[in-house]
Amino acid sequence: MVDVILGLQWGDEGKGKIVDFFAKDYDLVARFQGGPNAGHTLYVNDKKVVLHQIPSGIFHEGIINLIGNGLVLDPVILKKECNTVASFGVNLSKNLFIAERTHLILPTHRALDKAAELSKGNQKIGSTLKGIGPAYMDKTGRNGLRVGDLMDKNFTSSYIKLRLKHQRLLDNYGFQEDIAVWEDEFFEAVELLKQLNIVNGEYFINNHIKAGKKVLAEGAQGSMLDIDFGTFPYVTSSNTISAGVCSGLGVAPQKIRDVIGITKAYCTRVGEGPFPTELENETGEELRKNGNEFGATTGRPRRCGWNDLVALRFACMINGVTKIVMTKADVLDAFKELKLCIAYKLNGTELKDIPFEMEKQKPEPVYKSFTGWYQPTSAAKLYSNLPDTMKNYVSFINEYLGVNIHFISNGPGREQIIQVI
Ligand code: GDP
Ligand code: IMO
Ligand code: MG
Repeated sequence: MVDVILGLQWGDEGKGKIVDFFAKDYDLVARFQGGPNAGHTLYVNDKKVVLHQIPSGIFHEGIINLIGNGLVLDPVILKKECNTVASFGVNLSKNLFIAERTHLILPTHRALDKAAELSKGNQKIGSTLKGIGPAYMDKTGRNGLRVGDLMDKNFTSSYIKLRLKHQRLLDNYGFQEDIAVWEDEFFEAVELLKQLNIVNGEYFINNHIKAGKKVLAEGAQGSMLDIDFGTFPYVTSSNTISAGVCSGLGVAPQKIRDVIGITKAYCTRVGEGPFPTELENETGEELRKNGNEFGATTGRPRRCGWNDLVALRFACMINGVTKIVMTKADVLDAFKELKLCIAYKLNGTELKDIPFEMEKQKPEPVYKSFTGWYQPTSAAKLYSNLPDTMKNYVSFINEYLGVNIHFISNGPGREQIIQVI
């Protein structure tokens, strides 16, 4: 049996915290797509940790964590993450496993990401510059190198061949930076990677499922950044939606039970691209300040706005969401009035569906206003402690989406989460 936790917006919904919270009910936690573009924040012994590629179940003893074949993995970043995690006393040789089919991010992929973004000028995607796009391009272009290839004695020659190909592309872009230091770091990190548990991920996970173990698949990014269904071309390069679990881990669709979608109580986006409910005003500033909305991977300020139910309803449909977790409800404590986008206005007509191309069509949000609770809620422990105004806000969302919010997160701490009853 596999349950999935994934983001319903443009990423950073609080997946790390929620996976860490639910992990104790599972035997295995697995990432299925993305790579070090992800930044998943959790608190361990009150210390903040940001994970990029290692699944967020890693701090629970006795739970296996799997980096699935659907990721693109940067060994340099993995080495840093392993050091951080090990400093908390985690035994990685027991808890961390990596699928051999996982593609590698090479130093030249990072260089290509940077060169491609520069060449796009003001049409840039706002990539995290971690080499994600170029690494997935080499996967679908059937050129990429995989974790399993590291064991091959011809790995270095395969690397050089691909590197030369990349160099020609970099020359075309006029990319001048010296990446020799990146390469030294890469080969050093590869040595550590080879010491970790490298497994056949699809048999590994299916044998666990067959033995009755419970698996939690952890999404990265968010549904509106999905390569097929997001706000293309301002998206990431993988399937972030529940369908990505099957191809990113090798599990069959019938094995999936719950799809738990995470949404913030409002909305953020980091990087470029359409964001109909963005507030480029004082309210947006206040959301950013109260929510501490700065990227966990890049430190960039996140764009902020009211929650967008049109986009959320779309995300619930595409993912088959069965339960919702609403995070950062406490961030709305400071507002007397709240708004939810309930439709888009396009050429004079109101729509409840996501249009083909939001960038050029620029839909305008139609809002419904709500009275804010305007009181501190981060100390609340029970649903009965929460103000009626928050309960009204939650009921409206449940009804609009046709899927219920089951948990409300009211602070970044591990214990700040309330079950809706
Ligand atoms: P992820 O990428 O989905 O894992 O989310 P990030 O870690 O990038 O960003 C979420 C941020 O919000 C982190 O700084 C979390 O510590 C924080 N956070 C998570 N849940 C809550 C919450 O309920 N309230 C508040 N105030 N912060 C939260
Ligand atoms: P988590 O898992 C928020 C965004 C980037 C950019 C676009 C493409 O922490 O929610 P890429 O580096 O993938 O080529 O960037 O996607 N992006 C994210 N935004 N959270 C993330 O991950 C993101 N990963 C990528 O900002 O707009
Ligand atoms: Mg994040």
